[in-house]
Amino acid sequence: MKPKIFVTRRIPDAGLSLIESRCDTSVFPGDLPPTREELIDLVPGIDGLLCLLTDPIDQKVIEAAGDNLKVISSYAAGFDNIAVDVATARGIPVGNTPGVLTETTADLAFSLLASAARRVVEGERFAREGKWKTWGPTLLMGRDIHGATLGIMGMGSIGRAMARRGAGFGMRVIYCDRSPGEIETQKFARPVSFDQLLSESDFLSLHVPLTGDTRHIIDEKTLAKMKATAVLVNTARGGVVDHDALFNALKNGIIGYAALDVTEPEPLPPDHKLYTLTNCLIVPHLGSASVATRDTMAVMAAKNLFAGLDGEQLPNCANPQVYE
Ligand code: GLV
Ligand code: GLV
Repeated sequence: MKPKIFVTRRIPDAGLSLIESRCDTSVFPGDLPPTREELIDLVPGIDGLLCLLTDPIDQKVIEAAGDNLKVISSYAAGFDNIAVDVATARGIPVGNTPGVLTETTADLAFSLLASAARRVVEGERFAREGKWKTWGPTLLMGRDIHGATLGIMGMGSIGRAMARRGAGFGMRVIYCDRSPGEIETQKFARPVSFDQLLSESDFLSLHVPLTGDTRHIIDEKTLAKMKATAVLVNTARGGVVDHDALFNALKNGIIGYAALDVTEPEPLPPDHKLYTLTNCLIVPHLGSASVATRDTMAVMAAKNLFAGLDGEQLPNCANPQVYE
């Protein structure tokens, strides 16, 4: 009998077709994620779950799946939406897709940095709205990227990929990481304290996972230590930034600009006050959204799923302690 798999939304065919060829596969229809209640209704009896970062895979959902559940495979690098400790306690490996989205996410982080620096989206809107009457001697002046200081918070693989981009654009690169022991030596990035990172960065780019320690690490107090012209770039997780404090800082000139790929909550509701600011650029969590990377993620998620069904170690596992 083919294993029963529930896929919480249509993923690229590169991975989905592999799953469908081997498994009795049910894909949640529609463009919006299943609610927690729908998940609880739909998972009982499955052998494997393929989920997305939009799905709350908490204790209730994992328990609802029942004892057949052998693997949770997430089509994402981050896994803060999954009760990994609950999975581990039940002996269920959790797969994720790190690595492949590193360069793609850094590409977007740098695109946001450059767009904010040079006010690309404001300019596009200005032109499209018919306001472009002449070349303006002081029209939409932004900030130079070259020669500026890029601060990187969290020097994991995406942070390092961002550092390389900054160096390539002639930036001075500094970084702060809580576990400096794990970092390869960087030719072009200098370690600094968190306070120095805040006060010296012209562009501050966040690359930390969301954990108890990093939740709202950018808040009223830390924003107050930044330059009045500073640009904050977030492609990590929305919860790293206190959005009320960010709104106040942008509104009152405490910092200059924010460029966000991730927000809290997601999606950010259309009437959210951050949308009223011209110095805030928001895109809908596109970090890994290139055709090639999403295809690769889908294949990786399928391979993690198969390994879990076969009782083999997952090629990419968020809770390796499950094998101890
Ligand atoms: C995207 O944010 C991911 O974690 O894959
Ligand atoms: C701008 O286009 C310039 O030529 O200075």
